[in-house]
Amino acid sequence: MDFYITTPIYYVNDRPHIGHAYTTIVADAIARWREAQGEQVIFSTGVDENSQKTVDAAKKANEEIRAYTDRMAEIWQEAWAKLGIANTDFIRTTEERHLETVREIWGRIDAAGDLYRGTYEGLYCKGHEAFIKESDLVDGLCPEHRTAPEVVKEQNYFFKLSEYQEKLLRFYDEHDEFVVPANRFREVRAFVEQGLEDISFSREGKEWGIPVPNDPHQAIYVWADALVNYVTVRGIEGWEEHPADVHAVGKDILRFHAVIWPAMLMSAGLPLPGQIAANGFITNGGVKMSKSLGNGVDPLDLAARYGVDALRYFLLREIQYGEDGDYTEEKMRVRYNADLANGLGNFAARVLALAERESFDGVPGMKDGVPGEEFSGVIAAMRRGVDGKMAAFRLGDALAAIWDAVSFGDRYVNEKKVWEIKDDAARREALLGLVLLLEAIASALAPFMPETSRKIAAAVSRERGVIHIKRPDALFPRISS
Ligand code: MSP
Repeated sequence: MDFYITTPIYYVNDRPHIGHAYTTIVADAIARWREAQGEQVIFSTGVDENSQKTVDAAKKANEEIRAYTDRMAEIWQEAWAKLGIANTDFIRTTEERHLETVREIWGRIDAAGDLYRGTYEGLYCKGHEAFIKESDLVDGLCPEHRTAPEVVKEQNYFFKLSEYQEKLLRFYDEHDEFVVPANRFREVRAFVEQGLEDISFSREGKEWGIPVPNDPHQAIYVWADALVNYVTVRGIEGWEEHPADVHAVGKDILRFHAVIWPAMLMSAGLPLPGQIAANGFITNGGVKMSKSLGNGVDPLDLAARYGVDALRYFLLREIQYGEDGDYTEEKMRVRYNADLANGLGNFAARVLALAERESFDGVPGMKDGVPGEEFSGVIAAMRRGVDGKMAAFRLGDALAAIWDAVSFGDRYVNEKKVWEIKDDAARREALLGLVLLLEAIASALAPFMPETSRKIAAAVSRERGVIHIKRPDALFPRISS
């Protein structure tokens, strides 16, 4: 295994919306890009089931908790399959392999002397699955979830997070790309510099969750359990050998991943992940998507109407990685018609139509070969652009590099009026360049738009050095606006 990437594991109290789909599609594109470079990739996603939200949602649905989580886990798994996500593992935190790993890591943290019993008094927000400060409340409510926090006073196990402040800061100094984008890393560092408090790592008398070893009246704090999923997927030894290279997460859960998780791993004597990449948030017409507002945009509905690849393209191109972005139906249509129907789709159709004619009535037809210098230069620049941008998590810019090649091809067809070139050899040479450019575009597109990439690649075949073209149906039929 050469590369290990993860998504967050999602709460099962809700169905996937485009925000979740975005994080997952980003990780998928990175995983596929690595694979295309010949690396062996592990790409895990899954669901976070041991949350109080699960209990509440099951109750509301009038279902037994286990039956509810089984049903929801399937919904998430199916959604990712429908969106062409090529995850190699799907982890559920109720699985035995996970319980074992959580117990093992809890035991190691305990053995390191980093757990102690104490009384916790505070305000617990179920939406956050975390304690929040009184000073953060607005009119007595959590400003994000608009619910009143639970007043908690109970005996808990505490994790000595405060002991890790210096070690974390030193680690950050030595790994200057541990968190991307850089502005988020600065926020994390500033947070740690302010000083860290020990955190409550268990909850008293919870009927759902992983029991604290040797203290079944306590359930392990859901985040202390959930973060461990990344180790579960590899097994302790596997993680020791090669921990995650990238945890792709949303900015809302960055602190858990960049502060608490590394401290837990340090305590347990395990290696740290290579990088935490945090995406921004997607709003729906400028409004935050939430379960209570019921305004989550369904990615499966969009995929059914526009196609999976169009959805993937929209999300990866429209939103600058790391920054917030907005979805509206109008924006989706504009991108679809301009970049896909009129852009890539039209270019592919023109080239394939011209080449198809050539490959059928031209004897000996269009011969395979190397593209002219102009084309090979454009192809090389596109590949360099994609690889450079991907390495820097600039997925939208990587797509832009591909679209530069599409625009070049379009201009070439128009300016050279390829269809009017009378000289057979000259026309075939121009068409060969265009076909090879289109093939290179298809191959560069594979991590982002796997289906489209396959369709274009399948349109071109070779027989004893002669190129044959079989034009596919329109890749992106125009949508009337
Ligand atoms: N269960 C925790 C994560 C545990 S990981 C060890 C959790 N789950 S969640 O279901 O709430 O999903 C969180 C992730 O979904 C976010 O961190 C983010 O990556 C993604 N998104 C959820 N809403 C989003 C948007 N509106 N926009 C972009 N990403 C969003 O937190």
